[in-house]
Amino acid sequence: MNLNPASHININVNSTTKSSDPAPQALSPFAIDIRKGLWARPKKIPSKYFYDEIGSKLFQDIMNLDEYYLTDCEYEVLDLNKSQILDHCQRTGGFDIIELGAGDGYKTKVLLRHFLEAGADFTYRPVDISTEAIDGLVNTLQQEIPDLQVNAIVDDYFQALNNLKAEDAKRTRVVLFLGSNVGNLKFVEVVNFLEKLKAGMKQGDLLLTGFDLRKDPDMILAAYNDSKGVTAQFNLNLLNRMNRELGAEFDLSTFKHYPFYDAINGEARSCLVSKVKQSVYIAALDDTVDFEVAEIIKTEVSRKYFPGQVEALASRTGFSTVAHLFDAKKHFLDALWSA
Ligand code: TRP
Repeated sequence: MNLNPASHININVNSTTKSSDPAPQALSPFAIDIRKGLWARPKKIPSKYFYDEIGSKLFQDIMNLDEYYLTDCEYEVLDLNKSQILDHCQRTGGFDIIELGAGDGYKTKVLLRHFLEAGADFTYRPVDISTEAIDGLVNTLQQEIPDLQVNAIVDDYFQALNNLKAEDAKRTRVVLFLGSNVGNLKFVEVVNFLEKLKAGMKQGDLLLTGFDLRKDPDMILAAYNDSKGVTAQFNLNLLNRMNRELGAEFDLSTFKHYPFYDAINGEARSCLVSKVKQSVYIAALDDTVDFEVAEIIKTEVSRKYFPGQVEALASRTGFSTVAHLFDAKKHFLDALWSA
């Protein structure tokens, strides 16, 4: 352990992940993914590209919308169940919280504050691939919860877990993967993701992970189609980002945000639809992509779960369910699993 006694704050940066590139690549990863996605049928763009600086700000605004119930519901899940969560975490004494993709820590702080007030022996280890994201989070935590022992890790999620596995084996590791990120993965991808997580955990370690639940289809659709149009801006920002970073010539007024919810399979989808037949030049690819009238680009899928499906997922990936934690209306579920 590498704690800095002066501040309780420490940041580990893994510098071993970069290997020397065999050949210089002319195209950025973004350009490569766009070339693949916009020339596929149907057209698609990987959802990770939403989150540039502008997109991340817009997503903060989405989380503050009345219609976007997910953040408030999960906050309530954690607030209502924080004592129960602590009981499970400290079953064998001291523990370390490893949070994958902590964001601004808004929801996690409910737990951290409660754990400190209860006098628990624990450290908080947020993991993110972005140094800026970690710096921002560490700074706010230092100001808002100065007594918290923070030991941040800048690394890939799986790499971080595998490195930790070698450390102090006696303390329970509690992995947090909050939000509805799991919902953005296809079934095979979720299984693969959870199996890789489990490989980085030791027996008895805990995983607390979020699932948005099936509910009134109109309520779900509204969360992806807000009345202020923030979600539309967020989706259309993908076109802007291509304009900025790839020298593309998208005219945003010729596309519309088109979300729909399929209550049969529980998938909320966001698309961009071209209002006209058009060809758009992308300088970085030195190529032109053609759109028919009403041709779509798929940009995001958010799967909504029944609690039974969450339990099936746990057993399928070798975890055992410790508890299902809900908000008062049972709109959101944080599942507590043991490895
Ligand atoms: N992936 C998140 C979710 O499923 C983020 C999100 C909110 C989102 N609104 C969106 C992604 C609209 C694409 C389009 O809730």
